[in-house]
Amino acid sequence: MVKQAPIHAPMTQFDVVNDQLLVGGKTLDQIASIMGKEVFYAYDQQVIRSQVAQFKSAIPEQIKLHYAIKANPYPPLVQAMKDWVDGFDVASQKEMLIALQTGMPIKDISFAGPSKQLSEIEAAVVAGVTLHVESELELSRAIDIGTRLGEKPKIAFRVNPAFELKASGMKMGGGPKQFGIDEEILLERLPELNYNAFDLRGFHIFWGSQNLKADAIIDAHNNTFALAQKLVDATPVSVETINLGGGFGIPYFAGEQRLSLNDIGENLQGLLSQYRDIAKSELVIELGRYLVGECGIYASKITDIKTSRGHTYLMTNGGLHHHLSNSGNFGQVIRKNYPVAIGNKMSDSHEKQKVTAVGPLCTPLDTLADKMELNNPVIGDWLVVFQSGAYGPTASPQDFLGHPHVTEILL
Ligand SMILES: Cc1ncc(COP(=O)(O)O)c(C=O)c1O
Repeated sequence: MVKQAPIHAPMTQFDVVNDQLLVGGKTLDQIASIMGKEVFYAYDQQVIRSQVAQFKSAIPEQIKLHYAIKANPYPPLVQAMKDWVDGFDVASQKEMLIALQTGMPIKDISFAGPSKQLSEIEAAVVAGVTLHVESELELSRAIDIGTRLGEKPKIAFRVNPAFELKASGMKMGGGPKQFGIDEEILLERLPELNYNAFDLRGFHIFWGSQNLKADAIIDAHNNTFALAQKLVDATPVSVETINLGGGFGIPYFAGEQRLSLNDIGENLQGLLSQYRDIAKSELVIELGRYLVGECGIYASKITDIKTSRGHTYLMTNGGLHHHLSNSGNFGQVIRKNYPVAIGNKMSDSHEKQKVTAVGPLCTPLDTLADKMELNNPVIGDWLVVFQSGAYGPTASPQDFLGHPHVTEILL
């Protein structure tokens, strides 16, 4: 029997009309005219809203949804997001400024990240943003800064849990980690802290990211509630909020399917009934790419086509410097293709050609699509990389080799 190559999950989030991909109701040619650019990221607001709606329909209403700005800090997108989610998580002073300027209530903004500098701690303390402290020294620094400035820091402890996120995905908890304070150390310290010196908001239990296995997420939630109960029991003051982590992934590669949230939601409902103490705190799930990854495309133009020893190369005006994650150099072990299409030839009626699409950088790493079957590509066509709404421009080495930076649009 011939083994069928796995195919990408169908990219059904955008409309296609007359062979043309539409993002926010516009063809790529129209977007190019609006922007005056022939290489860009375009984000579709409706796709974000539908991801938020999916979350809300499956996850118990009591659990709040926060957006992790690091996934896509494009200010118009963050501004739009303000009305659709319940809070923001920021990872730097710059992200904090973006979040503050949207008008999101300050109590709903949290600042997490290892190795925070004194200036960042001071900024969070002065702004009144909740600081997710990731070490014991960070807590004393926040207290010292607060004492000097006459401000009580708002503190949540980021916990490095003893359990791990099972299955694939990026693990950020369990074992030795640079993130958070190990749960066993924190459990020892909690009873004896001076709670007059800071305003305890709660705990941040973050264990990983980009997981497509509902069972693994359910397992992590079970462990998170059990740990939260131990933390609450060890804390002599009231715990206002518990961040239950995130981890919901999106399908990037052939063979992957979209995550179904129904079982995860049902399990969370059961946990809320089982852990009544925990359910009294404000509970938060914090997501980045699940909310925005599917809304974005990266579009570049095919500017030359050449053949080398029988293999066809599409040369484009886009590349790794704009989209590092698509090149396989942002957390992947082996490069795999993102879903890619010719954006002005979307129907099945075209002949397919096996090609490799590359960018202008003098490195074989600069590959946008490797040996993919695309619809009869010619010079002037649009090469579109899907699933590009998260970890795009700001996660890419835009200055590498001095080519122009990429521009973005929210439609
Ligand atoms: C603390 C924290 N929150 C949220 C995220 C966002 O992850 P994702 O975009 O996969 O949802 C990350 C990812 O690194 C993280 O470290």
